[in-house]
Amino acid sequence: MAVTAIVGAQWGDEGKGRVVDYLAQTADMVIRFQGGDNAGHTVVNDFGTFKLHLVPSGIFNPQTVNIIGTGAVVNPQSLLDEMAGVAKAGVSTENLFISNRAQMVMPYHQMLDGLQESARAEKKIGTTKRGIGPAYADKGARRGLRLGDLLHSDWLKERLRPALENANREITHFGGEPLSLNVLFEECMAWRDALGHRIVDTLPLVRDAYRTGKSILLEGQLGVMRDLDWGIYPYVTSSNPTASFAPSGAGLPPNSINRVFGVVKAYSTAVGEGPFPTELFDDNGAFLREKGNEYGATTGRPRRCGWFDGVAIGFASYLNGFTGLAITKLDVLDGMKELKICTHYRLPDGTLIDYVPDTATLETVEPIFETHPGWDEPTTDVRRWDDLPENAKSYLKRIETLAGTPLAFVSVGAEREAMIVL
Ligand code: GDP
Ligand code: IMO
Ligand code: MG
Repeated sequence: MAVTAIVGAQWGDEGKGRVVDYLAQTADMVIRFQGGDNAGHTVVNDFGTFKLHLVPSGIFNPQTVNIIGTGAVVNPQSLLDEMAGVAKAGVSTENLFISNRAQMVMPYHQMLDGLQESARAEKKIGTTKRGIGPAYADKGARRGLRLGDLLHSDWLKERLRPALENANREITHFGGEPLSLNVLFEECMAWRDALGHRIVDTLPLVRDAYRTGKSILLEGQLGVMRDLDWGIYPYVTSSNPTASFAPSGAGLPPNSINRVFGVVKAYSTAVGEGPFPTELFDDNGAFLREKGNEYGATTGRPRRCGWFDGVAIGFASYLNGFTGLAITKLDVLDGMKELKICTHYRLPDGTLIDYVPDTATLETVEPIFETHPGWDEPTTDVRRWDDLPENAKSYLKRIETLAGTPLAFVSVGAEREAMIVL
C-alpha cells in the first residue's frame, strides 16, 4: 500500500490519464491535485475512449474513491457536462467528490482568459482559454470563490459581489459585456443543487485513507516544463504540476509519498507557445504528429513535435524526485530509421549545460543531439521487456540513464492492456 504521485515529465500530454487508468485498477483513491479543465487526459478501456478534463482517471473502478482536490480549480458547469458524458457510457460517478476548498472557475474567468490572450497580441501564451490563469489569480488575490461557498448562500453572495465587480471592471476595460450578479448567483444555486452532495471536506476522507494504509494515487495535470515556478515562464500554466505540490494539493503530508512516477512520452510534444529546443519542422515532425495523433485533447490544436529532450527529462527527474519512469508511445517510433536524443544545450558562448535554464536563455540554446538507430519490428503487441527489439531497448535504456531513474512501465498502445511492466 502506498501513496504514488503520477506526474507529467515534459510539456503535458505525456499519457498521464492512460497510466493512472492502468494503475487505478488496484487503487483505493485517486486525487487530482492541481489544474482544472485545461487538462485533457485520454483513457481507452473497456468502457470506451474518454477525454477527461476534471474527472480523475480512476473513475472507471467502482471501488475507487475519486477526488478533485483542494489544489484544483473547478468549472462546475464543465464538470457537470463531463460527468453526464461519462455516465452516458455506463460509468458510475457515485464515488466522485470535490474538495470544499477547491477554487471555482467562474464564467468571468473564462471570458477574461480569452480577452487577456487577445490583448497579448504577439506575445500570446496559447492558453486553453478555460479561465485557469484568471481563476488562480483571484485565488492569489484572495477574492476567489470556493466550491464549499456554494453551500453557504449568504457567504457566497457577499463574496461574489466584489469578485464580480472586479472582473467586470477588467471585462469592460477590454470592451467586453459585464456579467449580471443575479444571473450568476442563480447559476451558482443551480450548481449547488446539482453538485452539493459531492462537495465535502476531503481532509478526513484523505487522512483516514492514508492512516489506514490505503493505496492512493495523486494524478497530476500538465508537466514540469509548464510549471508556474520551474517551467518556461510566462508560457506556463498557473499552478504547479510537479510532485512537490501533490501532497499539498491533495491534503497529505509531504512525507506520505512513497513513489513518484514520471510519465514520459518517447519523443517530445508541446501545445501552446514558448521555447521548445528540440522542435522538428521537417518530415520527422509531421510523421510523429500524424502517427502519434498529436492533436490537443482539450482544444484540438495540432501539437508541436520534436526529438526526445534528455535535458528536460534530467531536470524533471531531479525536481520531481522520480522513483520510476512510465514511458509512453514507444510504438509511435516503430519504423523510424533513426532517432535523435538531445543530451545537452549549447549556450551562444559555446558553454554546454545539462539543465533547463531561465526562459530568455532557453530561447537562445542550441540542442546537442546524439543519434540512435531505429527499429522496424512493431512493438504494439509486445508485453514483455525481453520481446522488445534490441534497438528499442537501447533507446529506452539511454532515456533511463539521462533521467537517472529506473524504467517502471513502457506503454506500447493507448489501450489499458498495452503495457509492459518492468
Ligand atoms: P495526458 O494529458 O498526459 O493524459 O495525455 P493525453 O491524453 O493528452 O495525450 C496522450 C495521447 O496518447 C492520447 O491520445 C492517448 O490515447 C495516447 N497514448 C497514450 N499512451 C499511448 C501509447 O503507448 N501508444 C499510443 N500509440 N498512444 C498512446
Ligand atoms: P494535460 O493535463 C498540454 C498549456 C497551454 C498553454 C499553457 C497555459 O492534458 O497534460 P492554461 O490554459 O493552463 O492557462 O495554458 O499550458 N496547457 C497544456 N498543454 N496539456 C495540458 O494538460 C495543458 N494544459 C495547459 O497550451 O501553453
Ligand atoms: Mg492531455
